[in-house]
Amino acid sequence: MGILEGKRILVTGVLTDASIAFSVAKLAQEEGATVVLTGFGRLSLVERIAKRLPEPPPVLELDVQSTEHLDTLAARVGEHVDGLDGVVHSIGFAPQSALGGNFLNTAWEDVSTALHVSTYSFKSLAVACLPLMKEGGSIVGLDFDASKAWPVYDWMGVAKAGLESANRYLARDLGKHNIRVNLVAAGPLRTMAAKSIPGFKEFEDSWPEKAPLGWDLSDTVPAAKACVALMSDWFPATTGEIVHVDGGVHAIGA
Ligand SMILES: NC(=O)c1ccc[n+]([C@@H]2O[C@H](COP(=O)([O-])OP(=O)(O)OC[C@H]3O[C@@H](n4cnc5c(N)ncnc54)[C@H](O)[C@@H]3O)[C@@H](O)[C@H]2O)c1
Repeated sequence: MGILEGKRILVTGVLTDASIAFSVAKLAQEEGATVVLTGFGRLSLVERIAKRLPEPPPVLELDVQSTEHLDTLAARVGEHVDGLDGVVHSIGFAPQSALGGNFLNTAWEDVSTALHVSTYSFKSLAVACLPLMKEGGSIVGLDFDASKAWPVYDWMGVAKAGLESANRYLARDLGKHNIRVNLVAAGPLRTMAAKSIPGFKEFEDSWPEKAPLGWDLSDTVPAAKACVALMSDWFPATTGEIVHVDGGVHAIGA
């Protein structure tokens, strides 16, 4: 019996089979969950990728900047499952001008897009799913350690710092619904989101060297395992937490 046996899980953020969300969906199914996916924009691509999962799940459209998509999400998910026990937020985006060392010149419009998609949406998604989580459950988001200023990560780093704070406030406000809210802070992984960061190679070169456990830039499974564990019954008293899945880099001085 798997650790998610009988659980109904909504996974956002599958774009390619290198997406962290793809590994989460695959492992969740292997551990016994019923999975529903949401996709953004290129839905036919997401549907094609979804067919590579052990049990091809339904794919619903969700742009977290669309109030209409968010307002109708619970009803649309409800056509496939009678409730949710877990929700995975694996969504991030920042315009090019907000990344790559341009920190002092980025316009507010671009910063606001990064914050809307990468930070505020954690709250929007949680609230949109609340009507389906009557028996409580677990919400997990994907983070990149925001306790320091990194090279090139720029306004995405600010967005992640906001995400870490939002995680604590959501944990505060959703505890009374028996809903746990946590983040997995992954090390750098070669996904579409990472490839769009100019200068991402700086992370690629240094991370495996710095990590006490080493680090494989193309292996999304360790981060996905942490997401699955946090959605299982094995973290019943943990909320507002950030679990680092980074080979140990966060614990080591420069
Ligand atoms: N790749 C890394 O190095 C790394 C490290 C730590 C954390 N993360 C985080 O993991 C999460 C998933 O990213 P990934 O690395 O798997 O890359 P990815 O490109 O596979 O996934 C990013 C997802 O965000 C979605 N998205 C973008 N704008 C959206 C919108 N308006 N509405 C809904 N969805 C939208 C994309 O469609 C895509 O599915 C992100 O939050 C990212 O910041 C990534």
